[in-house]
Amino acid sequence: MKPLEIINILGSPRKNGTTARIARAFTETAERRGAVVKNYYLNGMQYRGCQGCEGCHTRSDKCILRDDATQILEDLFTADITLFSSPIYFGDTSGQFKSFYDRMWSLIRPEYISDPTDASRLPKGKTALLILSQVDARIAHEDVLKRYSMYLKLYGFSVKTIMAADLDMMPNTDISSYALQAEQLARELIL
Ligand SMILES: Cc1cc2nc3c(=O)[nH]c(=O)nc-3n(C[C@H](O)[C@H](O)[C@H](O)COP(=O)(O)O)c2cc1C
Repeated sequence: MKPLEIINILGSPRKNGTTARIARAFTETAERRGAVVKNYYLNGMQYRGCQGCEGCHTRSDKCILRDDATQILEDLFTADITLFSSPIYFGDTSGQFKSFYDRMWSLIRPEYISDPTDASRLPKGKTALLILSQVDARIAHEDVLKRYSMYLKLYGFSVKTIMAADLDMMPNTDISSYALQAEQLARELIL
């Protein structure tokens, strides 16, 4: 049987920060259960945000920009599970994450306005795990979790979330309870 394919999109510049470590707890458990993982560290990649050109809805069925985001957008079509992780920066996701997220506009079908029931170009049956982390209490930025989950659902993902809140600013702050949540989710999703 084909191994499960996972892509891990890291939206924090801190390679060993809180979101990266929570995501790793998931991917390492997944790998032990036979999944194949591809990691994308957005901060080390060269890509532009969405240009709003609508090329993906007129002259092409893909984003017409060609840069490091292109491969990630391609991989979303084949991955079974995609991890989207970001720290909260000023009440939203990081700039690196948001610029990539906007590029996902190219995954929306042009018929979306007339037929909002089937918005996504992605094949059905995919799962997304959204991981956000912050120093504030959960309630402070729960809107971000809700908003980004809503858009992931629009793309057809079945959405799981982990919100790591009340953290210390330091990258090595204790995330053990969230890492356990991530490991547990990996065990549930990868049988
Ligand atoms: C530029 C900047 C802005 C931040 N803004 C917020 C914020 O609005 N709310 C919050 O709770 N934490 C904020 N933080 C703290 C980070 O969200 C927190 O340290 C997070 O756990 C970092 O995740 P990481 O280790 O994966 O990078 C901010 C940190 C930085 C560097």
